[in-house]
Amino acid sequence: MNRIAVVPGSFDPVTLGHLDVIERAAGLWDEVHVVVVHNPDKSALLPIAQRVSLLERSIEEAGIVGTIVVASWSMGLLVDYCTDVGAHVLVKGIRSQVDVAYETPMAIVNRHLADVETVFLLPNPANAHVSSSLVRQVSALGGDVSPYVPPAVFELLSSR
Ligand code: PNS
Repeated sequence: MNRIAVVPGSFDPVTLGHLDVIERAAGLWDEVHVVVVHNPDKSALLPIAQRVSLLERSIEEAGIVGTIVVASWSMGLLVDYCTDVGAHVLVKGIRSQVDVAYETPMAIVNRHLADVETVFLLPNPANAHVSSSLVRQVSALGGDVSPYVPPAVFELLSSR
């Protein structure tokens, strides 16, 4: 049986924290789908297609081993994507109690909706403070985001 996990997120942009979670998920499941989802609660920096291509490039350049599919989903519930591809697990990185509070209701609802379980992975402590929103803010104000993002993202943000 091919066990598939879905790692969803806004990935606006992908950070080293995301890559850490993706790499660890790739070590735990046969196949990992990294799915870019529009989050209506956040104003976007990058178009979805660009987030997908930055993820593809960054995963390759980081040398992450495993079967990894990068996709986007805008057709409704995230669990519908999971059902479509035969995945029963969502993987989320948890940095703090704030993340636990944010993720817990979604995890319960996703289990009710489609019997999809959510697995929380704790981050490498080196990335525990890294978030896309922090990267967007520091970058917009002219700060150095190179410690937080993969080279492809740093290149793009530096050129803007
Ligand atoms: O990186 P983010 O912004 O924290 O990711 C949040 C995301 C996109 C994973 C979350 O908003 C989500 O799961 N959206 C899917 C929409 C959905 O299915 N909602 C209903 C059940 S929670």
